[in-house]
Amino acid sequence: MSLAPHGGQLVDRFLTGAALEAAKAKAAELPALTVDTYAAFDIDCIAKGIFSPLTGFMNEAEVRSVLDTMHLRPGIPWTIPIVLSAAKEDADAFEVGGEVAIRDDEGDVVAILHLAEKFTVDRLEFADKVYRTTDESHPGVNYTLSLGDVLLAGDIDVLKARNIEFQDYNLTPRETRAAFEHHGWRRIVAFQTRNPIHRAHEYLTKCALEICDGLLIHPLMGTTKSDDIPGDVRMACYKVLMERYYPKEHVMLSLMPVNMRYAGPKEAIMHSIIRRNYGCTHFIVGRDHAGVGSFYGTYDAHEIFAEFDPAEIGITPLFFDHAFYSTRTQSMASKKTCPGSADEHIFLSGTKVREMLKRGEMPPPEFTRPEVAKILVDWAQSSQ
Ligand code: ADX
Repeated sequence: MSLAPHGGQLVDRFLTGAALEAAKAKAAELPALTVDTYAAFDIDCIAKGIFSPLTGFMNEAEVRSVLDTMHLRPGIPWTIPIVLSAAKEDADAFEVGGEVAIRDDEGDVVAILHLAEKFTVDRLEFADKVYRTTDESHPGVNYTLSLGDVLLAGDIDVLKARNIEFQDYNLTPRETRAAFEHHGWRRIVAFQTRNPIHRAHEYLTKCALEICDGLLIHPLMGTTKSDDIPGDVRMACYKVLMERYYPKEHVMLSLMPVNMRYAGPKEAIMHSIIRRNYGCTHFIVGRDHAGVGSFYGTYDAHEIFAEFDPAEIGITPLFFDHAFYSTRTQSMASKKTCPGSADEHIFLSGTKVREMLKRGEMPPPEFTRPEVAKILVDWAQSSQ
């Protein structure tokens, strides 16, 4: 028996057959709202059940409950509100109880919103509770403050799935669940990443795989901040690692079309719940998971799990200390697994790596596999 999705049932909000044709015809007559790329990804996540049990955008009571209690409702943890915003002029044209056609960032009608509620939220409070800061240099805070004045709540019916680059790797929760079943994997660990996979990441995934049947390498491919490494460059790195350094019988690479929020601990909970929906039983949480700058403590994303009943989260977090290469043991390790002082640890910060790449220097093999280093140097050189 595989692990039940969050809330019990995998949501599917796609229209098909006659209902889809009727919705397409009706959409032309409805008032319309054009949304940004971020909201378009959120719609895709709701439609595919990635955000199960959500069937649409949250209403005021749900947003309050998420902000104040980290639960969507009793028994259902949820840490980051999923909201749809509109400018006041647009929102004024939409009637509660009516329907709104949603156009995505490419101009296509992708969904019909059954508008149940219009409400406002204090964006600073929203930012403070989710990101634990109101500093506008935080990308999540910045996005929250840019939201339209009015939030629109209600279920959505979705007309089409979002087509993104590397679509072959864009497996839905239903598809990953089927793949795990096909492989006969019962204990499946997911690895979230928004970076190329370096030696420390590889170490975490392989330690976890030692105690599981399968590993899902599950890079995030929704919107990310502009100075994160682009998805196509990361995909090239993942593929070369899959080819050379991971055993095919126990490892799957699939992408996750979810926006990066940079909410550190609260996003660690959200990432776990999402991976549960994809059918995983375990989830890796390392150092400063989903962090940005110095907004979060190194292990805040571990500690937040203690605030929940593990049965409510369902998926089991696997916590990892900061990992590095130890010149003493000549292996990847952490302070838990090797003696020695910091001068015996090889670890490079993101900033340091970026500087090396700009100069055309390959990061050392103790930090990243040479095939990955080469892809990154070529990219950094060509994008200067
Ligand atoms: S994240 O935003 O997706 O968390 P990143 O892709 O760097 O960023 O990290 C992916 C996962 O690896 C996260 O769980 C993170 O905590 C973990 N991680 C990254 N680097 C290390 C490291 N050196 N030691 C331990 N965990 C790490």
